[in-house]
Amino acid sequence: MEIYTSNSIAETEEIAKEIAKRLTNGGFLALYGGMGAGKTAFVRGLVKALCPECLDLVHSPTFAIVNEYRGNNIDIFHFDLYRLTDEDDLYSTGFYDYIEQGGVTITEWSELFENELPEDAIKLKIENVGENVRRFTLC
Ligand SMILES: Nc1ncnc2c1ncn2[C@@H]1O[C@H](COP(=O)(O)OP(=O)(O)OP(=O)(O)O)[C@@H](O)[C@H]1O
Ligand SMILES: [Mg+2]
Repeated sequence: MEIYTSNSIAETEEIAKEIAKRLTNGGFLALYGGMGAGKTAFVRGLVKALCPECLDLVHSPTFAIVNEYRGNNIDIFHFDLYRLTDEDDLYSTGFYDYIEQGGVTITEWSELFENELPEDAIKLKIENVGENVRRFTLC
């Protein structure tokens, strides 16, 4: 278990850059943490690190369940599971096909589909511990 503390969005992006080193094609990163924790901010940093050419595409997937960032060397599939209610919903998004494709998959609101995550998922909990302070716990 590793703990990182961020005092700003810029620091969150630095932490994302560190954690990005563990993610290669086929990897899965499950993000945990409530509204405004900083999951999307973290993903922005991660995409910056793994796929700089994808950057202008990054936005919160709140209105889309999944955003795809197709890079030169890597594909990133960014899910927000918040508005999905059951496994049929999840299936409809193409989730199970995406995770077979060999890109990097990242999920926001992973706690809602704990049983559907791959066994080798890297888990990252984000906690809001102050206005601009976030604690990241990686397992
Ligand atoms: N250290 C920090 N790291 C990341 N975000 C921070 C930090 N300090 C303050 N913030 C603010 O917290 C909010 C994080 O929003 P973000 O959309 O990333 O959250 P989220 O976890 O994706 O929420 P949601 O569950 O609604 O999708 C932003 O308004 C951002 O400016
Ligand atoms: Mg978000």
